[in-house]
Amino acid sequence: MEISFIGAGNLAWHLAPAFENAGHHINEVYSRQLQHSRRLVSNLYDAHTHSDLNFADSPSKLFVLAVPDDALEEVCSRLVLPENARIVHTSGTRPLSDLTHWMAIYSDVPVRTGVFYALQTFTREQTFMEFGEVPLCLEASDKELEDELVTMGQEISDIVYLITSGERRVLHMAAVFACNFTNHLLALAHDVTTANGLEFDLLRPLIRETLRKGLAADNPAQVQTGPARRNDLSTIEAHLSMLATQPRLAELYEVMTSSIQRMYIR
Ligand SMILES: NC(=O)c1ccc[n+]([C@@H]2O[C@H](COP(=O)([O-])OP(=O)(O)OC[C@H]3O[C@@H](n4cnc5c(N)ncnc54)[C@H](OP(=O)(O)O)[C@@H]3O)[C@@H](O)[C@H]2O)c1
Repeated sequence: MEISFIGAGNLAWHLAPAFENAGHHINEVYSRQLQHSRRLVSNLYDAHTHSDLNFADSPSKLFVLAVPDDALEEVCSRLVLPENARIVHTSGTRPLSDLTHWMAIYSDVPVRTGVFYALQTFTREQTFMEFGEVPLCLEASDKELEDELVTMGQEISDIVYLITSGERRVLHMAAVFACNFTNHLLALAHDVTTANGLEFDLLRPLIRETLRKGLAADNPAQVQTGPARRNDLSTIEAHLSMLATQPRLAELYEVMTSSIQRMYIR
């Protein structure tokens, strides 16, 4: 498949090479900031940077929108696509119907629409993602494109699902808890240790064991530990008084503590 990427950020950095390794050809990468598309293109075989959203003369058949969710409509409104184009977005939350609607109102030519959502966390400039175990959640507005996307998905991953927009939105929200919030809590633990002259490294074995145990359990709730789980109120009070001058952390500590307590204390 001839493919163009719109956006050269975290996701495009990993997905574009994965498609290339599966034998597809990336023609163009669009990005507002040339250095971003240049950086991605330098890792691809034969792709060129594209400085505007006019793809009328593009040989590509598939256009991959890899821009922030809030930029999708604006990008779609300025996009000029060739005949017989398919377009997919990569968002966890935006319904397919939004993309179909935008193409219907903004595109001069008929465009088939789909979703290619990879349920993984991607950061550009990191080692290229091995997609084999990345769940791909796919959706399309017609059966032919659905089949094409499933074939492309199976070329790069062993875990390919046809998922409705509603199911994808639930998965994405769960992913925010599992991934984004977890990582944020790790970043806060980093701040707390280093601000007090302690090595974050001391926490690494604990973090590894926490994730290992949580993943091994049928339900991570079975292996919850800590003062909130035990209802050790004096320890909780001690921690909150240590956070007296840091209201943002204290607030988060209280919210997390009461969430754990509500799960276990009847
Ligand atoms: N990162 C992940 O872990 C992940 C996982 C699964 C799905 N996704 C999905 O992938 C999509 C892209 O996310 P990302 O993390 O790759 O985002 P990102 O790293 O912020 O990259 C976004 C790209 O879009 C461009 N862009 C931003 N605003 C734009 C606008 N108004 N008009 C045109 N281009 C614009 C940026 O342009 P410049 O280069 O010019 O600054 C950048 O190249 C999102 O829908 C997200 O939900 C991400």
